[in-house]
Amino acid sequence: MTVTIVGSQLGDEGKGGVVDLYGDAADVVARYQGGDNAGHTVVHDGEKYKLSLVPSGAVRGKVGVLGNGCVVNPETLFDEIDTLRDRGLEPDVRVAERAHVILPYHRALDGIEEEEKDDLAAGTTKRGIGPTYEDKAGRRGVRIGDLLDPDALRERLEYVVPQKKALAEEVFEKETGEEFDIEHLYETYREYGKRLEEEGMTVDCGDFLQERIDAGDNVMLEGAQGTSLDIDHGVYPYVTSSNPSSGGASVGTGLGPTVVGQGDVIGIVKAYLSRVGTGPLPTELGGVEDQTPDYDASEGAGEDEEELATRIRDEGGEYGTVTGRPRRVGWLDMPMLRHATRANGFTGLAINHIDVLAGLDEVKVGHSYEFDGEEIFTMPPTTEAWGRCEATFKSFDGWPEVDWAEVAAEGYEAIPENARTYLEYISDELETPIYAVGVGPGREETVIVENPYE
Ligand code: GDP
Ligand code: IMO
Ligand code: MG
Repeated sequence: MTVTIVGSQLGDEGKGGVVDLYGDAADVVARYQGGDNAGHTVVHDGEKYKLSLVPSGAVRGKVGVLGNGCVVNPETLFDEIDTLRDRGLEPDVRVAERAHVILPYHRALDGIEEEEKDDLAAGTTKRGIGPTYEDKAGRRGVRIGDLLDPDALRERLEYVVPQKKALAEEVFEKETGEEFDIEHLYETYREYGKRLEEEGMTVDCGDFLQERIDAGDNVMLEGAQGTSLDIDHGVYPYVTSSNPSSGGASVGTGLGPTVVGQGDVIGIVKAYLSRVGTGPLPTELGGVEDQTPDYDASEGAGEDEEELATRIRDEGGEYGTVTGRPRRVGWLDMPMLRHATRANGFTGLAINHIDVLAGLDEVKVGHSYEFDGEEIFTMPPTTEAWGRCEATFKSFDGWPEVDWAEVAAEGYEAIPENARTYLEYISDELETPIYAVGVGPGREETVIVENPYE
């Protein structure tokens, strides 16, 4: 049986924590897209683990798989594995031979293009994600399987590296170094290939997972990023280059959609909105100016809004896990969530961070948009149109700060009444039941309503 975890907004909804919690009943946790642009925080035995690439389940002794839909930077992979080992864990990580490899020139080009794009820049994590997926689609990528085969690796590098070098030097007029040097790349990446082989880490992902499922194991499929960052369903071009939405769980692992569809698909919702990187944000509160060249929401934001934004940002620790950038924050955006619910076919919701909003007099929600004089309830398909949408807000009475660990221990009914009203509004609007409510960053600070493996 599978359970799929999907971000419903703009990433950092607290997917890692939910994977960690529900993952208890899983034997295998597989990521199906993205790379080391993701950043998951998992708290285990009072220790905080920050992971970018290794699936969150690895902290708790599960088999972690990086599916064929992922892009893998072997340097990050081994750094994370070594760090976990230094901290006394024994992570068991497998990597799909069909997954694509992030090479140093991808990272270099990510940085160069972001600079060049100016207002169109997505504010990427500069991990080389976009350029690697570009090469995958362009049929000039290097796959994990190629690192195991010296001839294949050399042949691929000899074809692609001169093109990348010419692009950097002649189109973008940059100086290049060893990240564009075939011999250096060959030597370094063959070494990674040998280590992957020695440690028995590579798999045919679909086969591996299907065999485990057939043997009765529980598999968790872990999405990174979020639906509004999806290359097809997100706010293009301010998106990542893969499919975080649930369709990606099938394509990115090699399990059939009918297999994935037999299990739950759980949408992870942050009770407000946060965003690293650029693009419009109709429910934004205040702004973090340097990240919003085109859509500076701080323009016109009153001092109260700025104060509120700062309060939520600080209470929620809204600073990027990967880059440390302060995240932009806003009220919950229901049109975004209606869009995500349809695109993913959510069967349940985990709504996190309701503790962060505690103590406010009023909690607002963008219920619908006013778009060219009309009221609309879901996101328009172009980002330019989305930028013209103005949120129509609904207001909820705030809820008090309480002992959230106690609430989590007691269960759903112990959640302050006004917060329950808020949660039930979300669930009703999305016609999707609540499976869990996050009331704090700790593992025990989650109210479990439904366990998808039971
Ligand atoms: P992911 O990228 O979706 O896995 O999420 P991140 O780990 O990047 O960001 C979520 C942050 O919020 C982490 O620091 C979590 O520890 C924290 N977090 C998760 N759920 C909750 C919650 O319900 N309340 C609070 N206060 N923090 C939470
Ligand atoms: P997790 O898994 C939040 C954003 C970047 C940028 C855009 C493209 O922790 O939720 P990329 O480097 O992927 O080419 O950047 O996507 N982004 C994320 N935002 N959480 C993430 O991952 C993100 N991964 C990428 O900020 O706007
Ligand atoms: Mg994150």
